[in-house]
Amino acid sequence: MIDWSTGDGSHNGRVALVTGAARGIGLGIAAWLIAEGWQVVLTDLDRARGAKAAKVLGDNAWFIGMDVADEGQVKTGVAEVLGQFGRLDALVCNAAIADPHNTTLETLSLAHWNRVLAVNLGGPMLLAKHCAPYLRAHGGAIVNLASTRAAQSEPDTEAYAASKGGLLALTHALAVSLGPEIRVNAVSPGWIDARDPSQRRAEPLTETDHAQHPAGRVGTVEDVAAMVAWLLSRNAGFVTGQEFVVDGGMTKKMIYK
Ligand SMILES: NC(=O)c1ccc[n+]([C@@H]2O[C@H](COP(=O)([O-])OP(=O)(O)OC[C@H]3O[C@@H](n4cnc5c(N)ncnc54)[C@H](O)[C@@H]3O)[C@@H](O)[C@H]2O)c1
Repeated sequence: MIDWSTGDGSHNGRVALVTGAARGIGLGIAAWLIAEGWQVVLTDLDRARGAKAAKVLGDNAWFIGMDVADEGQVKTGVAEVLGQFGRLDALVCNAAIADPHNTTLETLSLAHWNRVLAVNLGGPMLLAKHCAPYLRAHGGAIVNLASTRAAQSEPDTEAYAASKGGLLALTHALAVSLGPEIRVNAVSPGWIDARDPSQRRAEPLTETDHAQHPAGRVGTVEDVAAMVAWLLSRNAGFVTGQEFVVDGGMTKKMIYK
């Protein structure tokens, strides 16, 4: 079945919840879905920035503040979405402590480890738990934002790598538990320049940054958003439990020196 989006910014009747949408990739996903005609609920820990982002995105954007690691806030937030729109068709778990670097292992605190795991892995579990009853009603879909760091590492990235590896496992576990009504997939971005335009202008990427990628460039938030939107569409109806890598081919390149 071909799922033609309205493409003209009008509301297609479907409601998506995107976490961590105040900036970066989450904001890009929210903007893309709105352009496809979705009603999008943006959520973020940063309430001021999230509310501003929703205002800029227009009538089909709505913001609610939420710490995804706090079950009370998740439960209240999801209830607010249902109260406002009466349905939920898609959940995009994008919020994360996205800086992959921790201190050296010897100085890594258990508190930091626990917080990264609680936000990056516990958050998607809590969101799935509280959204599942509503997603089930409309044959909904979940997309989790993992990372190529689930499979590859730089030094001193234990907490982030473990959280994203866990998220891939959570994705297939949820797909099996929540199917056939709800499909669950993961997108693993590589290097995505998710910085604000002002930061991108102040510190432009170099030719070396781009050229090392088989695709010839660093990724954009739109590269990720397009994949997320497809996974949420009915065209992906036979796709669940999978990981989709959006990295310009970087993880397929031999890099021995
Ligand atoms: N940018 C990249 O190159 C890249 C690469 C691989 C994976 N990712 C993943 O993509 C997603 C988005 O990355 P980004 O670069 O846009 O990150 P970002 O740091 O720019 O944005 C993350 C957003 O999540 C929010 N957030 C953090 N903790 C939260 C919490 N407890 N509750 C609610 N919101 C919270 C932040 O306020 C922020 O708005 C993340 O899951 C990240 O791990 C990014």
